[in-house]
Amino acid sequence: MKRILIALATLGLATAVLAATEAHTNALIDRIKPSGNVCVAGEACDTAQVVATSSGAGAARDGATVYQQACLACHMTGAAGAPIMGDAAAWSARIEKGMETLIANSISGIGAMPAKGGCANCSDDEIAAATEYLVNNSR
Ligand code: HEC
Repeated sequence: MKRILIALATLGLATAVLAATEAHTNALIDRIKPSGNVCVAGEACDTAQVVATSSGAGAARDGATVYQQACLACHMTGAAGAPIMGDAAAWSARIEKGMETLIANSISGIGAMPAKGGCANCSDDEIAAATEYLVNNSR
């Protein structure tokens, strides 16, 4: 009987320690999660984070930042048939159209690419900056 009681007490203690560890881990994950979020068409997206990003944005984000938040999901991987950043062969014919056309197409969307790459909280200027960043790294 005594042994069973000790076993039960040990089990209770172990459960408490596990619960505490889990709460700690969750708090840690919450603290270190990225502030931005990339949404890919067709995948579930944490809109709360996306909205938080837009409401906190006072100044315009630079091209690299917008690229990382709104373009990289497709243009780093080739998802949806997107031309990959740095793949000069894939970009040369597009670059011949001229930067103005490329920016206009980034804003209004082209083929499988949604308008502004799906970035609802991006201004036209931010999309232009991201397009220049993407194109200038793909020559
Ligand atoms: C959902 C995937 C996706 C995202 C996100 C995305 N793109 Fe694209 N992008 C594409 C695809 C696919 C194409 C090729 C479309 C075609 O030519 O049919 C493309 C083409 C382009 C082109 C070439 C346009 C042209 O006229 O040839 C530019 C420039 C571009 N994207 C910029 C961006 C920028 C800047 C962002 C971020 C703000 C972005 N894209 C986000 C999928 C994406």
